[in-house]
Amino acid sequence: MNPEYAGARAREYDHGMDVLFQTFGVDEAALREEMVALLRLPQGARILETGCGTGRDTVHLATRAGVVYATDLSPDMIQVGRARLAEAGATAASVRHLVADATALPFSDGSFDAAYHFGGLNLFPDVRRGLAEMARVVKVGGRVVCGDEGVAPWLTESEFGKILVNSNPFYRHQAPLHLLPVAARDVACRWILGGAFYLLDFTVGQGEPPLDLDVEFPGARGGSHRTRYYGRLDGVSPDLRQQVMTRAAADGLSLTAWLEKALAEKLAGR
Ligand SMILES: C[S@@+](CC[C@H](N)C(=O)[O-])C[C@H]1O[C@@H](n2cnc3c(N)ncnc32)[C@H](O)[C@@H]1O
Repeated sequence: MNPEYAGARAREYDHGMDVLFQTFGVDEAALREEMVALLRLPQGARILETGCGTGRDTVHLATRAGVVYATDLSPDMIQVGRARLAEAGATAASVRHLVADATALPFSDGSFDAAYHFGGLNLFPDVRRGLAEMARVVKVGGRVVCGDEGVAPWLTESEFGKILVNSNPFYRHQAPLHLLPVAARDVACRWILGGAFYLLDFTVGQGEPPLDLDVEFPGARGGSHRTRYYGRLDGVSPDLRQQVMTRAAADGLSLTAWLEKALAEKLAGR
């Protein structure tokens, strides 16, 4: 692409962002500070920003971090972002810019304290992958904050929602809660800018949440998560099931305990 044209597009994008915040009557700097605060950054934190664009969040991240890796697919957006940081002054020293695809990050697992993204998720070819990549490169216990256009569910049929979708179909997107990685813990979802953008934040855990499979359930059915999920047998007639329930109750056992005993005795030939 012609560099002058690409630069003009990046500047046009920047102007569009000024207009967006003006439309919602929201103080952009204050909101971006609030979003960055959700990262709960430790002293000297190493932060990854994906889809950094023209650096409108990077300047806020830079004041709170040790090092910010500001990444974007577009070198032109990054160039404008660099200029913005240079204007911001001393904080620029802690920012490293990099052209990188948010859905295939060139960083090793757990190499950041936090990851941040705002405004580009709806453009990702694979949103699940983009979210998974942020969680992968953040260490366990670290934080991820991300958001994009997506009118709040209770506003989609309102005039507010319809007007926004009419101007920009991206407002039709929904918060991608179902695409979060299983390692996401303490997930919070809120809507900002009048309810036109979703904002997700979570802490990175390890794999699926812990679950004790062997705690015995009280009551007539009994058993545990393990016996119920992994120990399922083929069904019997409802009538026989009822007879077994009645017999188990009479013997003072849960259904699971009675069945296990009866089947074990049968297998032992008793
Ligand atoms: C709407 S801008 C948001 C920029 C900035 N975060 C902000 O809030 O002003 C979206 C940015 O995401 C970038 N982007 C889109 N798809 C991407 C991808 N797969 N990987 C990295 N960046 C991407 C675009 O180049 C663009 O700069």
